[in-house]
Amino acid sequence: MLLCVGGGIAAYKALELVRRLRDAGARVQVAMTEGAQQFVTPLSFQALSGLPVRTSLWDSAAEQSMGHIELARWADHIVIAPATADLIARLAGGHADDLVSTLCLASAAPLTVCPAMNHHMWLHPATQANIDLLRQRGAQVVGPEDGPLAEGESGPGRLAQVPQIVAALAHPDSAVPSVPSSDSRLRGVRLVISAGPTYEDLDPVRYIGNRSSGKMGFALAQAAAARGAQVVLVAGPVQLPTPAGVERINVRSAAQMRQAVMDALPADIYIGAAAVSDYTPKVVCPQKMKKTAQTTGMSLELVRTPDILAEVAQQTGALKLVVGFAAETHDVATYARGKLVNKRLDLIIANRVGVAGGGFESDDNAATAYWADGEREFASMSKAQLAGQLLDLISQRLDA
Ligand code: C5P
Repeated sequence: MLLCVGGGIAAYKALELVRRLRDAGARVQVAMTEGAQQFVTPLSFQALSGLPVRTSLWDSAAEQSMGHIELARWADHIVIAPATADLIARLAGGHADDLVSTLCLASAAPLTVCPAMNHHMWLHPATQANIDLLRQRGAQVVGPEDGPLAEGESGPGRLAQVPQIVAALAHPDSAVPSVPSSDSRLRGVRLVISAGPTYEDLDPVRYIGNRSSGKMGFALAQAAAARGAQVVLVAGPVQLPTPAGVERINVRSAAQMRQAVMDALPADIYIGAAAVSDYTPKVVCPQKMKKTAQTTGMSLELVRTPDILAEVAQQTGALKLVVGFAAETHDVATYARGKLVNKRLDLIIANRVGVAGGGFESDDNAATAYWADGEREFASMSKAQLAGQLLDLISQRLDA
């Protein structure tokens, strides 16, 4: 087994991989990129593999004992762990500008690639195109996993667990699929997601709004795109970056959100994650409203906004699943189930707001999903993790 170690923080996990591969009976020769040596020393790999580690194409002593071409021929299997975005790009491009890329290019052995990187790098269309190219050429891709990353963020980018890599090498069919392709049920499915608040203008400088951050809807859009769905994200006024591969339509008011959602249909799934304002001013003042010395108070006349979610749910024809959110301060189950029935939804995700550890503005969320004949609790976790779990449930409900 030729283990090529790339330059990422997950390089330390490759030490454990050497040990487990040897336990499984493999002879392991390690080759490291220059970047990998910044994270772990060759000496550590040498101690665990029992063989001198190869670090350079230009090492005359190593070339004398077994040249890189011989080493490339020697390998029965090449595993790259961790495979960084750069290494994947260089393999896809057929580069041979360092030892690891040259070994891979010079070898006819089966290749297993275990990516690990920041989730934005993994989800970037460039990396996705490169990994797809490697797959098309027959490489086995194991991982990455979804979860907390070294830099404090969360998302698909963690190196697959060492036992799973070992299992995938022993039985290629048991490979842990990489996150984007793991949920083939959503591949090619069209999803329209609303997210964020709406702002209802009173005059050119003031509006009525709410405290929605948009994070939950954006996390859902990101996770759905990563699973291969075609995602249209109708976003209220929030400052969040657009997730890779997502078509974003910015709106401000409930009326604009309704129009953008209707224009984005037909779709297979609609997820109403936006906190749509229930009321809007009856008249919008064209000029700034001025306070006067005489009046001590003022009244605003408000009118109801269209219920976008209920209207979408009535279009029973094309949509396979309509999912709503319910943010409640009390009696969560009762109100959520009421909305499920009244708005004719397939699924509603309810969470308590106004409590610590979740809801509006928070990075974390705990929720309960309700459908006609079932429910499921989700403990407090990051909105990115919750998005992944909710999409798993949504995929299951598609088939229900
Ligand atoms: O009735 P309530 O506003 O609590 O329902 C929340 C759900 O309904 C959310 O999914 C929200 O996106 C959706 N909604 C909507 N249009 C409105 C009000 C709420 O789509 N005018």
